[in-house]
Amino acid sequence: MKIERIELKNIKCFDSFDAHFGAGINFISGRNGAGKTTLVETLGHVLFGADAQGRFLDYFLRHGTDKGEMRVTFSHAGESYTVSRILRRNAAAPRRVFDANGDELSLHGERDVNDFLKQLLRMDPRTNLPRLFNEVIGVRQGTLTSVFHEAASERKRIFNAMLGVDRYKQAAMRMPALSQYIRARDAALNTDIQVRASHTQDLEEVRAALKDVRGRAEQLGGRVEQLQKASAEADAALERVARSAAAREELRAKLFKEQASLAADRKAHEQRLQLAQSGKEAALAELAQLENEIDSAQKELEAAHARMQQAAQALADFSVNERIEPCKKEITACEARRAVLAQRREQLDKTAAGICPLLETPCEKIDFGILKAQTDDLAREDAAQEARAEELRQKVQAMQREDAARRDALAASERECAATLDRIKTRKMKLDARLHTLKEAAMEKERTIAAAQAERPILDERAEQIRETERQLALMETDGGEETLSNLRAAQLKAHEEAGVVQVQLESARMDCERLEKEIVRKETLAEEMARLEEERTGVQRVGTMSETFGAMLRGAGERVAAVYREKLGREANRIHRAMTGENAQLTWQEDYDIVLTDVFLGRERVRTFRQLSGGEQMSAALAIRLALLKELSTLGLAVFDEPTANLDAQRREGLAQMLRSVTGDFSQVFVISHDDTFDAMSDSVLEL
Ligand SMILES: Nc1ncnc2c1ncn2[C@@H]1O[C@H](COP(=O)(O)OP(=O)(O)O)[C@@H](O)[C@H]1O
Ligand SMILES: [Mg+2]
Repeated sequence: MKIERIELKNIKCFDSFDAHFGAGINFISGRNGAGKTTLVETLGHVLFGADAQGRFLDYFLRHGTDKGEMRVTFSHAGESYTVSRILRRNAAAPRRVFDANGDELSLHGERDVNDFLKQLLRMDPRTNLPRLFNEVIGVRQGTLTSVFHEAASERKRIFNAMLGVDRYKQAAMRMPALSQYIRARDAALNTDIQVRASHTQDLEEVRAALKDVRGRAEQLGGRVEQLQKASAEADAALERVARSAAAREELRAKLFKEQASLAADRKAHEQRLQLAQSGKEAALAELAQLENEIDSAQKELEAAHARMQQAAQALADFSVNERIEPCKKEITACEARRAVLAQRREQLDKTAAGICPLLETPCEKIDFGILKAQTDDLAREDAAQEARAEELRQKVQAMQREDAARRDALAASERECAATLDRIKTRKMKLDARLHTLKEAAMEKERTIAAAQAERPILDERAEQIRETERQLALMETDGGEETLSNLRAAQLKAHEEAGVVQVQLESARMDCERLEKEIVRKETLAEEMARLEEERTGVQRVGTMSETFGAMLRGAGERVAAVYREKLGREANRIHRAMTGENAQLTWQEDYDIVLTDVFLGRERVRTFRQLSGGEQMSAALAIRLALLKELSTLGLAVFDEPTANLDAQRREGLAQMLRSVTGDFSQVFVISHDDTFDAMSDSVLEL
């Protein structure tokens, strides 16, 4: 923590004051009454809430003014805050805290501000800030030594409080009251436990009673259920009887309808079957006939074919050329004979003309008679040959005509055969087509028959259903008579009446149950409370035992802690004292917090108590203790010394200055106030008021 700035308006001797401070030693000097102590008081009042009680209300306000303000700006861990008190006459002056931007923090009252500062400066939350300032950090001017002049008991009181060791004592003093409280609490708990014990002792009996009643209620409930079921069954039976007459009629009508429908369906089925059967038979008959026809057509076809083959064969067999050929040969022979005859005639004619046939010379010996006879014979033979040739030609022509006629007749016969063949083939094709159609038709009928036969089991099934319906009907007719009806009504009434009686019993059992359950809950709650109380009582008794032990421990603890502090602080104070005085004296801090200085004087050991020291020696011894205390108790690194040099001789003043310089390592900021100039040279900054 570092004090950055103090601003005052209308505070004690200041109408207006504003000063900045730095780290290290800040020396404030000035004549008496210049306001030096006022600055120390300002730090205490503003930062630590010291002297903020009512009696200080108008202490700081400058005479003749009604309003003043004290502002202290400090920095810590890189943040800076300003704490302000605005004072008005006869009015409390609450503190307000602002951050570096001038924004006010939401803090209300002295305690809130103190808590904020303690938390910010990481101080023990139990620290009493006004006391820390008044007794440790900023000891009032002139009171540095005064505590050591007090009686031993007062010193003890003051330092025990300062070191916090009287807390143990206070706690030990409170122990008897605690024990008494614990005893009273134990007795009260015991009474409460007894009361509950008396109420819960019959808990098990009540539980057993509840179990009985529950069992009974369960039985009754079961009986009610049975009766309700019987009643419901009777209701249902009655309704069934009422319904069955209508159902019977309905069923009968349905049966008739179904019977008629089945008969019609059967008839239609038979007809369909017969129709298909006869269709099939007709188709088969026609089929047989058709097959015959096809057979005969086939035969006809074969006959026509044979005829045609026969005609062709006849034609082939008849060879006209064989017969014509001899005739033609004979004609050729006739013509050849006639050519020979013609030659002979020529020779005869020449001979007749007087030419020797052999010598080709005229001849006189020619016998014309013989010649004439020869010529006549020749002419006759030639005529006979010509006639024969003519006859043969006629014969050949006749034969050729006969052949042509035969061929024509055969061609005609062939054509006729072919036409017959075509006709028969066409007819056969038609017959085949018809045969196919008929086969299809026969198969179709076959399928129809198969389908109709397949329907038969369905019809049989329906017939079976009808028989079943008839049986049901017969059964229904035996049920639901008048007698049954009255029996059912009687059973219903009986069940109803008994259910009423049992229901009343059940209600009563249930009410008993409820009452017992409530009682058990109440008793269980009491039992739980009792267990809790017993547990608490055990705890209280344990605390009682512990408090006895603690009491014994606490009674001695304060003194033991104080002894540790005194020893530790005494050692540190001795170090500081030696540094300050430069003397080889031994400083010890006694059990009664008196300071004892042991040195060698005139060759002999000298032991002096505080009262036996000179004023200057007292001041340096007290300061050594104060500095040791300050280091131990404050973590703020801030120290304020108001006129520490009073009563110190020049050497001690110098020693103090030296020592302060050497302890600045332990403190980040030290304020030293003095009306003389002892500290001028060694200070980091000097403020002259
Ligand atoms: N309420 C006040 N109004 C005006 N002046 C005051 C008031 N109270 C004290 N003073 C004066 O303020 C001065 C304060 O002295 P102080 O701070 O103790 O000075 P220093 O410590 O420097 O000797 C004194 O001269 C005193 O008379
Ligand atoms: Mg002063």
